[in-house]
Amino acid sequence: TAKRLTDYTAPAFSISHVDLCFELDAEATRVTSVLQIKRNRADVPLKLDGQQLTLISIALDGQLLDTTDYQLDADSLTVFTVAQQCELTIICDIAPQHNTALEGLYMAGNTYCTQCEAEGFRRISYFPDRPDVLAEYKVTIKADAERYPYLLSNGNKVSEHIDSDGRRVVQWHDPFPKPSYLFALVAGDFDVLTDKFITQSGREVSLQLFVDKGAITKGSFALESLKRAMQWDEQRYGLEYDLDIYMVVAVDFFNMGAMENKGLNIFNSKYVLADAASATDRDYFNIESIIGHEYFHNWTGNRVTCRDWFQLSLKEGLTVFRDQEFSADMGSATLCRIDAVKLIRTAQFAEDASPMAHPIRPEQVLEMNNFYTVTVYDKGAEVIRMLQTLLGRDTFAKGLKLYLQRHDGQAATCDDFLQAMQDVAAQDLSQFRLWYSQSGTPLLTAAQRYDATRSQLILSLAQQTPPTADQAEKQPLLIPVQIELLFNTQASQRHLLLLNESEQQYLFEGITEAPVVVWLEHFSAPVKLAAQYSDDDLLLIARQATDGVARWDAMQQFWSRKIAQQVTSNASEVALPAALFKLLQHWLEQPGTDMAMTAELLTLPDFDTLAEQYQLIPVDKLLSSISRFKQLLAEQLARPLSSCYNALKTGPYQYQDNDVGLRKLRAVCLNYLAQLNDNQPLLHTHYVNSDNMTDTMAALAAAQQSKAAVFNELIADFASRWQHDALVMDKCFALVASQPGEQVFEAIDTMLTHPLFSWKNPNRVRALFSAFSLRNPQQFHRIDGKGYQLLADTVLRLDPLNPQVAARLVTPLLSWRRFDDERQQRMRAALQQIAGQSSISNDLYEKVNRSLD
Ligand code: ARG
Ligand code: ZN
Repeated sequence: TAKRLTDYTAPAFSISHVDLCFELDAEATRVTSVLQIKRNRADVPLKLDGQQLTLISIALDGQLLDTTDYQLDADSLTVFTVAQQCELTIICDIAPQHNTALEGLYMAGNTYCTQCEAEGFRRISYFPDRPDVLAEYKVTIKADAERYPYLLSNGNKVSEHIDSDGRRVVQWHDPFPKPSYLFALVAGDFDVLTDKFITQSGREVSLQLFVDKGAITKGSFALESLKRAMQWDEQRYGLEYDLDIYMVVAVDFFNMGAMENKGLNIFNSKYVLADAASATDRDYFNIESIIGHEYFHNWTGNRVTCRDWFQLSLKEGLTVFRDQEFSADMGSATLCRIDAVKLIRTAQFAEDASPMAHPIRPEQVLEMNNFYTVTVYDKGAEVIRMLQTLLGRDTFAKGLKLYLQRHDGQAATCDDFLQAMQDVAAQDLSQFRLWYSQSGTPLLTAAQRYDATRSQLILSLAQQTPPTADQAEKQPLLIPVQIELLFNTQASQRHLLLLNESEQQYLFEGITEAPVVVWLEHFSAPVKLAAQYSDDDLLLIARQATDGVARWDAMQQFWSRKIAQQVTSNASEVALPAALFKLLQHWLEQPGTDMAMTAELLTLPDFDTLAEQYQLIPVDKLLSSISRFKQLLAEQLARPLSSCYNALKTGPYQYQDNDVGLRKLRAVCLNYLAQLNDNQPLLHTHYVNSDNMTDTMAALAAAQQSKAAVFNELIADFASRWQHDALVMDKCFALVASQPGEQVFEAIDTMLTHPLFSWKNPNRVRALFSAFSLRNPQQFHRIDGKGYQLLADTVLRLDPLNPQVAARLVTPLLSWRRFDDERQQRMRAALQQIAGQSSISNDLYEKVNRSLD
């Protein structure tokens, strides 16, 4: 049964202290839990959450309980009579070896590790597994001393010894009260990188990074990133780390990216390990950003946590915003913003238009794991960014400070956060609050009128949010609209317009010529924009706007319009203006200092971005016009593309801004050039000459999109060269699964037999099947439904092993209503096949049912 935000009640019991003891064993780990309990409300029994636990015994204040004293069911343990204050001792057994859902305590290879967010702790022991029950933890871990040199948990290490049975016994104490979802335990044998960080107040923090044996050299970038993150949070927000030790562990089996457990972050190894040979520039970027993200949670998430899971965006939206600002300061701010905008315009707009539409603070949840979404995280971050835009950077920083001071050590709500912001800003944020409760993508319509005789410019804005699956009625939001006015003969002007009604006008006096208006500069709000631009306006913005994001966006809008024209014009071919070729040629000839930016300016919008501009997605027409324009550009610009490509040279690999931009621009050129038949040797040369994974992937990706057999040849070489490296094989799996030809089905089958493929490892499964369903529109959306069938079969196969990953994988099928009749039928059939299974998980049930409803 679903839970509702409005049903919140404060916990009936608090737990002040938890004393946990783990005797690790793959088949039967014994967990002894001693809880110091205090009653907050009279007349209620003590109900604890618990799943898949084998209860051995319960004792209340030292007295063993009888089976008549309590009741046990599949999800809970209820003790009927408990005093005002008591000590409860619970002994359970669990089987980490058989935990393929990767929630609670599980085994990743030979390593024991935990994932408790959101509701995994209940698979470790009976406990009030909700984020507003904060307790102080003491943890004892016992395991075979030789096989488990490292036994880790949250906080500070208290003691370590070997007992008479030859077991290592380690005790930990975390002085900061925390909710159960931040609990962590790791046991294994690792290579350890150590370092230290001196905080701004002069405290020394020991840093430890645990990686697989032999991978030590691949850990240093993550450790350096951690130090940069620690320093950045001190400088930007005055926030210092609070324990004496900070540990990060990389594991192979992980459902998500990483987890911010207090003092003991656990990471998907993909977001820790990197070296030039095996990681791309993008991998390096992601590592720095996720290391930052988990570190920033120590304040926004851990010191101040969430009252209930409906408030998830309180910590996630805010922390994504913080990691984005960190990344922007570490590298190219424009590129970071472009990445964020792309994600909103693809996955987030798609989610708003889907049966799973929800506000950043959802109101109704069946399976919490289904709400770790791009809406809660990334639209959540956009909402925080709008707040910063509205209040100004300094006031926003003061508001954050006040929020953290006011709620330190507490479980807070989104309203608490907004209240703190309102208090420092002395601004009424009541309308802004709607962003938390209203779902959907607002459509912003912009127009301008220039009156030369009066020297007046009148700008008008209108907003309208279409109904979503979860909400029919929508109200006007407070939308910050940044603009720039570009003139011919005078300096440009930048303004911030506040739109808070359905329609509004803004009058500018003393304007002596008609400007081109850059609307929604820097993507100042997560909305769709409809503005009356001519081709010339867009090309002018792309050349002249101050904001790099606006320049890129103008090119994206230019192509969206051309492709839309091509889609509706049926037979006739839409022509491209000569001014376009001139501009593109100019960029190729003078790529400037920000080559990554130039690369973005030269890149067409992708299928997903374009698809979100249609209610009914014209799959085939979109694909054919993208490829037609790409081909056209390659032919028309062959010479400047070639010279640009040839002029770009780097030294030995370094992850450094200028080189990253250069490789990116070179990859874009290569990608166009690969469209031309006589350029196959170029792909070969690029591949062979590469001394780093970024260039290697550029060659493979370009080969994959070109018509040639060269892809088969290169990918075979790549697969054999990296056959022992799982993280690199993931790249290989993804390339194989996203190849646009119909041989992809056979190729996927072959990859399933690869020694490194495992249905139990989420990274492997995603590498093959997310790549197929998200990055291979040609074959996934085949009209005969073979792509949909493959995904449905995969989801059903995975669900019994790992419901969380299965439910994520099913997402592309949910939006069946947005396709033509034939595809609709086949997608729905695939969903019905899933729904028809007798025992699907809650995770899958919630999504599939919302979609078929
Ligand atoms: N809090 C983690 C992060 O964003 C994500 C954990 C998600 N876990 C889950 N089971 N959905 O850093
Ligand atoms: Zn997070």
